[in-house]
Amino acid sequence: MTGELSPIDKAKFVAAKRATDYVEDGMRVGLGTGSTAAWLVRCLGEMVREEGLKIKGVPTSTRTAELAREVGIEVISLDAARWLDVTIDGADEFDENLNLIKGGGGALLQEKIVATASDQMIVIADVGKEVETLGSFPLPVEVVPYGWQTTQALIEETLVSMDVLGRRTTMRMNGDAPFVTDEGNHILDLHLNRIGDARQLAMVMNQMPGVVENGLFIDICDAVIVGYGDGRVEVR
Ligand code: 5RP
Repeated sequence: MTGELSPIDKAKFVAAKRATDYVEDGMRVGLGTGSTAAWLVRCLGEMVREEGLKIKGVPTSTRTAELAREVGIEVISLDAARWLDVTIDGADEFDENLNLIKGGGGALLQEKIVATASDQMIVIADVGKEVETLGSFPLPVEVVPYGWQTTQALIEETLVSMDVLGRRTTMRMNGDAPFVTDEGNHILDLHLNRIGDARQLAMVMNQMPGVVENGLFIDICDAVIVGYGDGRVEVR
């Protein structure tokens, strides 16, 4: 499954492999989205096929659902599962309090719903995702298509009054057209550089009409499994 891996892929793979320790027979498992989460799905698929592991997977995007089915994991909807034992997902940034920025892959809405419906959320990440203060990675904010430019202007105005360095926002594109999420929405990326009070920003964002969800995951993650390019793994 792995062949000759680059250091970054090795870091993602070893973190994902270690995260399989959190998965036991009979569990309902939230399956994250992104390149690191894809390693997890492949690892779990191998355990299903070769060791007879029995799990039900709740994917956080259509592409994760496709991969999970492809590798042999039984896929069910969140509503069929109702509550999950564990969700394992990647992140774009994590800090020492295990707060996260997610949504680089555009799946933050389903990812947050699934993680919140889980007994535990475990993040898997290469060490490059570790930051002192969140915000270097542009913060994804999912907005409804209706009036998105007005929502964007409102967000920019609000940022002026908050403890953030950057205020530029950009519409995420897919070629010439705005990127469309699995839920039919768009993503605005907020180039903030440094987020002083992530909890407050997350709350303020979600109070704006037009905003569906933001990529700040505050007090949701229980542990981060950090992978290194030389194959080492640490749990935070
Ligand atoms: C998708 C996400 C991903 O977990 C995040 O972007 C990390 O991706 P990768 O593992 O490819 O670096 O939040 O919405």
